[in-house]
Amino acid sequence: MLKKVALGIFAVLLVQISSFAQSNDIIIRTRHVALVLRVEKDHLRQLYLGKALEDDKEYEKISSDNNKPAYSTFGTDNLFSAAIRVVHADGNPSLDLQFVKQENEKINDSITLTGIDLKDPAYPFEVTLYYQAFYNEDIIETWTTIRHQEPASVTLYNFASASLYLNAKDYYLTQFHGDWAKEMQMEQNKLSSGIKIIDSKLGVRADEFNSPCFMLSTGKPAGENSGNVLAGTLAWTGNFRLLFEVDNANQLHIIPGMNPYASEFPLKPDTTFTTPKFIFTYTNKGQGQATRNIDRWARSFGILDGYKPRLTLLNNWETTYFDFNESKLIHLFDQAKEIGVDMFLLDDGWFGNKYPRNNDHAGLGDWQANREKLPHGIGYLVRQANNRGIKFGIWIEPEMVNPESELYHKHPDWILRLPDRPENYQRHQLVLDLSNPAVQDFVFGVIDSLKTDYPPGIAYFKWDCNRTFTDAYSPYLGKNQSALYIDYVEGLYKVFKRVREKYPHLPMMLCSGGGGRVDYGALPYFTEFWPSDNTNPIYRIFIQWGYSYFFPAIATCNHVTGSGDYSIKFKLDVAMMGKLGFDMQINKLKPSEIQFVRDAVKTYNQIKDIVWYGDLYRLISPYKSNKAALMYVSDHKDKAVIFTYLLHEELGDMHLPVRLNGLNADKKYRVKEINLPEGTQSHCPESGHIYTGDYLMTVGIHAPLRGDGSSAVFELTTE
Ligand code: DGJ
Repeated sequence: MLKKVALGIFAVLLVQISSFAQSNDIIIRTRHVALVLRVEKDHLRQLYLGKALEDDKEYEKISSDNNKPAYSTFGTDNLFSAAIRVVHADGNPSLDLQFVKQENEKINDSITLTGIDLKDPAYPFEVTLYYQAFYNEDIIETWTTIRHQEPASVTLYNFASASLYLNAKDYYLTQFHGDWAKEMQMEQNKLSSGIKIIDSKLGVRADEFNSPCFMLSTGKPAGENSGNVLAGTLAWTGNFRLLFEVDNANQLHIIPGMNPYASEFPLKPDTTFTTPKFIFTYTNKGQGQATRNIDRWARSFGILDGYKPRLTLLNNWETTYFDFNESKLIHLFDQAKEIGVDMFLLDDGWFGNKYPRNNDHAGLGDWQANREKLPHGIGYLVRQANNRGIKFGIWIEPEMVNPESELYHKHPDWILRLPDRPENYQRHQLVLDLSNPAVQDFVFGVIDSLKTDYPPGIAYFKWDCNRTFTDAYSPYLGKNQSALYIDYVEGLYKVFKRVREKYPHLPMMLCSGGGGRVDYGALPYFTEFWPSDNTNPIYRIFIQWGYSYFFPAIATCNHVTGSGDYSIKFKLDVAMMGKLGFDMQINKLKPSEIQFVRDAVKTYNQIKDIVWYGDLYRLISPYKSNKAALMYVSDHKDKAVIFTYLLHEELGDMHLPVRLNGLNADKKYRVKEINLPEGTQSHCPESGHIYTGDYLMTVGIHAPLRGDGSSAVFELTTE
């Protein structure tokens, strides 16, 4: 967290805007969103947040009556929650931040970075607020840096990434929460007077119960295609806190940031504390538009290689668990080849010799191939896979250690655990102390050795993380334990950065016992994430639906497995709405099913570009009916793919049309039901016919859904 030089490049490149052209207003704007700040009596205040006005000059006319501090402080006149609270070196618990200057940098034609320096008039204590505006995507990222030149350390108690305000009659908050195997469940509630906090105190695997994503609607509950929505997410892979306070005047204060819980931070003089980025968009076109803004930003800036192809795969976890050997795996390589996927992914259980990883009690930390299961080693497997024309990927969980491991005995001081108390296990494991640079080297070394030791090369890593912090104490941090929650994450980022410096485009899946770690702090280092260990397609419809609000389909790994008593077609249709994979014994399927899988992989290869790079339109929510439907539309609106699902059959379902969205009303589209098992005909009356976008968005198509767990997929093409 401590950085001697904050944003050095930024400092060099900045062009100082010495004064305000028309007024004291600072306008941070994208194509449709504006955040306007005003300097009044030396203090920076938020004047406006919402839809951008056509004419920037008109912001001057907005009255200052409802202004609130652009970064709220504690200790002087603020009566509400503070974004920042510090105790100065001399014990003074108050902070007054006055405006010093504003600087703008044009990063490129569509990205502008604004830095605003604030300073305490009585202390050498400074805060810089940063706002990075992505004009085309309608996204603003905001974060702060904090530094001082006081004679001794200043303790930071609160250090949010932003304070933002909305002013409306009513506020409706959509949050995403859950647990293992039921991630990203959505709930919308009206905010009433007072404070609502969504947070994580789990340290690592921080999103297991709550996600750092939310959508806020003003005036009325959020609609998919209408209504004012502010959608935000914190780019932080550790404890976070999203605070919403409705004040006495019914104004809403939004304070997102790292969770200050048990994290008082002693900031030394001349060092810089940088808060994580809060990423948000605002739209008056409903939650669907908010998602499309975030997805477009995410593919370009939020995930690694967001516009590059992904690998379809066969994973062995739900097929073998820990019970495999070389010949079983090679058999699976053949199955991967047979169904036409790009890669085989070897999961947990391949390592440990003194303490073999034959179950989850032992082996974590000892990253050498188990000689009994894999006598010829990993290199042999890589070659065997490659000989069959498929790539080879591997699972790791490098932040963790089992007490039954050589690592545990060799480096007891690398482990987070309380002195003088019994060890507390989750899944029989403990967390390594990533605040310690020696541990960072070790964790980096796990990937680096696997990459360098096994030419022609492991093509893919699945990085897992299967427990939270409990009873956490860092032997490395000694008396400064309150820095642990933050330093752990900073240590993790250092490792991610090293991996990316050496292997910039290596595909990697972010996994955490399902979706316990899905955030835009980690995702810039990963090509994709594992949403949930629940692979039952009915549950997956809800889970994938929840993720779809903030994370693009190209990053969302959906595997077809043995879970759930549903047809292979239904399972495939559910998995194809994101990045397709398999985790099942293919040769246990009937020959007709294997044929269907083979054909479905080919079909997926034909439509995947639309799913990966297209705009998402959610059509029918599974939360509101017994069906779900969504579609992806290509950039030029010349192609689309529609997924429709019937979860539980009710009378009359056959007659309800699915009205499409996002098409060009004037274009003519041919509708075709795809992904049909060989020999079956489409029962969709529109399949094979041509309609205008107008017709399809007004009248719709009749998806032939019959029976619990049935589905239909359609492709739209233009001539
Ligand atoms: C949890 C992951 O979510 C699963 O996919 C699998 O990799 C197991 N861990 C392996 O232990």
